[in-house]
Amino acid sequence: MSKTKKSSQTGINTRLAHAGYAPRSFFGFVNPPVVHASTVLFPDAATMVSRDQKYTYGTHGTPTTDALTSAIDELEGSEGTVAVPSGLAAVTLPFMAALSAGDHLLVVDSVYSPTRNFCAGMLARFGIETTYYDPRIGADIESLMQPNTKLVHTEAPGSNTFEMQDIPAIAEVAHAHGALVSMDNTWATPLYFKPLDHGVDISIHAATKYPAGHSDVLIGTVSANKTAWPAIKKTFSMLGICAAPDDSYMTLRGLRTMGIRLARHQESTLAIARALEDMQGVARVLHPALESFPGHDIWKRDFCGSSGIFSIVLDVADAERQQAKAHAFLDALQVFGLGYSWGGYESLAVHANLSDRTIALPPKEGPVIRLQIGLEDVEDLMADIERGLAAAHSA
Ligand SMILES: Cc1ncc(COP(=O)(O)O)c(C=O)c1O
Repeated sequence: MSKTKKSSQTGINTRLAHAGYAPRSFFGFVNPPVVHASTVLFPDAATMVSRDQKYTYGTHGTPTTDALTSAIDELEGSEGTVAVPSGLAAVTLPFMAALSAGDHLLVVDSVYSPTRNFCAGMLARFGIETTYYDPRIGADIESLMQPNTKLVHTEAPGSNTFEMQDIPAIAEVAHAHGALVSMDNTWATPLYFKPLDHGVDISIHAATKYPAGHSDVLIGTVSANKTAWPAIKKTFSMLGICAAPDDSYMTLRGLRTMGIRLARHQESTLAIARALEDMQGVARVLHPALESFPGHDIWKRDFCGSSGIFSIVLDVADAERQQAKAHAFLDALQVFGLGYSWGGYESLAVHANLSDRTIALPPKEGPVIRLQIGLEDVEDLMADIERGLAAAHSA
C-alpha cells in the first residue's frame, strides 16, 4: 500500500490491487507462494509444546490463506476472516459457531435454498429451531424474537427473487435482544455493500462467485466483527474446514480484477434488465437496481452498486404450461449456458425452483428464469434472450 495514503482512503481498484499484498515477505516476488502444507516444523521441543510461532499446522492457516483472508478483512473492515472450502460451508459455519441445543434461529424466507436444508436436516437434529421470516419485515422482526433467539440470518438481495432487506433495522432489533446477525453478502460483494458497517456481525461470501470469478474454484469466506470473531475462529479450528491452497491462491488472483469485472457485469446487466422491462413475453424483471422493483429504495440507500444476476418472470398465465415454456426458453439459448452457480465470466440461465418458499411466495404471473450476465457482448446476449422469448412464445 502507498506510503502516504491509508488503504481506506484509496479507490476500490487500488485497494483490490494491493489488499493482502506483501512482496517483501516473499523476497520481492509480487504474489505469495502457494503453500501446500500439513506439517509445520518447530525448532525445538519447548516451542512444539508452547506453539509459540506464527504457523503450527496446515488447517490453522498458511501464508497463502493469510494473504487471502487479510485481503478480505481489508475489504470487509472485519476483525478476522476464515476461508472455507465452499460458499455453503461459509453459510453453515456461523450457525455452528452461534447456536446450541435449545436455541432459536431466524432465517429469511428468500434464503439460498441449501441453507434451508441445513437448518432442517442438521440443526433440527441438534435441537435448534428455525423460523422463516418475510424479507420485507424490517423492524417488525421484533415480533418474532424469542428469549432463546441467538442468530438472525439475512441475505439481500434474496436468492432468485432478489427481495431487499432493511439490514440496519433488523440488526438494531436483533442486538437489542442479544442476538447476532449474519448476512450472505455474495450478490453485492464487499465492493457494493459492506455488511459490518450496517450492523451485521458476520459477513458471508460464496467467494466461488465474483472473487474467484472464473467458474473453476469452490471457496467461501466468513468475516466477523470483534464480537463474533472469537467464536468463528474457534469453530473453524474445531471443524477443520480449511480452504485448499490452490483455491485460496486463485481467489486472491481473482480479487485483483474483481472491480473491473464487476463494473462490466453491472453495466451489461442493467442494460439487459432495462431492455427486458419493455419486452413482450416478460411479465416482470426482478432486479433491485431497477426503479420499478419493490425495495429499490433500500438498495439505493444502502448499496453502492449492483452485480450480474437477476431474474425475469415469463408471462405465462396458464400454470399448466409454465414448465414447458420455461424449458422452451432455456433450450433455445445458444450463448447462455444452462447451469447453476454464477459470478463467472460466462452467462448462465436457470429455471428457478421456488417450491420451498412459505412466505416470499413465487410470482403468480409465470416461471422465474434467473440470468447470470457474463462478460460477453450485450448485443449477443440480448439476441440470445430474444431467441429464448420467441421459443417460449411458440411453445
Ligand atoms: C447466495 C449464495 N450463497 C451461497 C452459495 C453457495 O456457494 P458454493 O457454490 O460455493 O457452495 C450460493 C451458490 O450458488 C449462493 O447463490
